[in-house]
Amino acid sequence: METMKAIICAKYGPPEVLQIKQCKKPVPGKDEVLIKIYAASVTNSDIFIRSSNVPFLMMIPMRLMIGLTKPRQEIIGEVFSGEIESVGSGIHRFKAGDQVYGLTGFSLGAYADYKCMKEIDSKQGCLALKPENISFEEATSAAYGGLLAFQSMEKGNIKAGQKILIYGASGTSGTIAIQFARYLGAEVTGICGSSNIALVKSLGADKVLDYTRKDSIKMLEKYDFILDAVGKRKTSELKKACEKALTPNGKYFSIDDSALLLESDRLNRIRELIESEKIRPINDKCYPFEQIVEAHKYVELGHKKGNVAITVNKKP
Ligand SMILES: NC(=O)c1ccc[n+]([C@@H]2O[C@H](COP(=O)([O-])OP(=O)(O)OC[C@H]3O[C@@H](n4cnc5c(N)ncnc54)[C@H](OP(=O)(O)O)[C@@H]3O)[C@@H](O)[C@H]2O)c1
Repeated sequence: METMKAIICAKYGPPEVLQIKQCKKPVPGKDEVLIKIYAASVTNSDIFIRSSNVPFLMMIPMRLMIGLTKPRQEIIGEVFSGEIESVGSGIHRFKAGDQVYGLTGFSLGAYADYKCMKEIDSKQGCLALKPENISFEEATSAAYGGLLAFQSMEKGNIKAGQKILIYGASGTSGTIAIQFARYLGAEVTGICGSSNIALVKSLGADKVLDYTRKDSIKMLEKYDFILDAVGKRKTSELKKACEKALTPNGKYFSIDDSALLLESDRLNRIRELIESEKIRPINDKCYPFEQIVEAHKYVELGHKKGNVAITVNKKP
């Protein structure tokens, strides 16, 4: 039996529950590709699944979804980039040697040497060719932050010249949302903490407000679209004030207002914008595979700048 290394989450708990083990290497079916994974993202969703640390009322529906007493999928991880090693006879979109990026949906399994994926989008994930001009680690930021940012920004139907506010501009999705809004020709204000102001300006924000400063509230204008890019659990006085800072037809949307859509068309669009240098994914830290516990501890602090990745295999 061929084996591979993988990070196993055999029970809910702190980062230390994650263990590296040898597991059976998956074999692709007729309608699957076998991907050698080079990098995986350490996302808030991974932290959520590993810790199962959610408000009591959410616990039962969440556990029904991901596993009652332990994660149903032992190998967690939902964002990856890598190279296709082999393809089943029914595969048409991809061939061996293609470099790809994507999300694994409910099937998880990105924290491993190999993962089998279907080429058709489903709740089990989505897959597309990776942008050529970025690293595998950056590609994981593009996949996760890009999908979240794009699907949320599309709710705004943004037009050139409109005023857009991105609350939480320094996270994985916020850093991409700022750049996407600028690409669409909007006038963009980003909100972040003091230590991220320079980063958010460098992404093209016209104005930047600091959520830790009380006087930022006075600087709010009226916006055509406001995106809460950090989610409902992270808030501040400034965020509450934002809800009233809309034009008469303005719209406020939280990244938590809809489920993450697993769509390869959107991944293709993100690739085009990255390859034409209209947007660039932001990576904070990148950990070796063996330091997955440290990576989870860091992400759990809630202050990463952009994305955190693990290198699963180094591309020769
Ligand atoms: N809809 C879905 O299906 C779905 C799926 C996945 C995730 N999500 C949501 O997406 C959210 C964002 O994830 P992400 O990975 O893009 O973000 P993230 O990387 O977790 O955001 C981290 C950034 O948030 C900033 N931050 C922390 N507290 C803040 C606050 N109170 N106000 C403003 N900024 C704050 C931090 O900056 P400082 O260091 O300056 O504080 C840090 O740079 C998740 O938390 C989750 O709610 C939704």
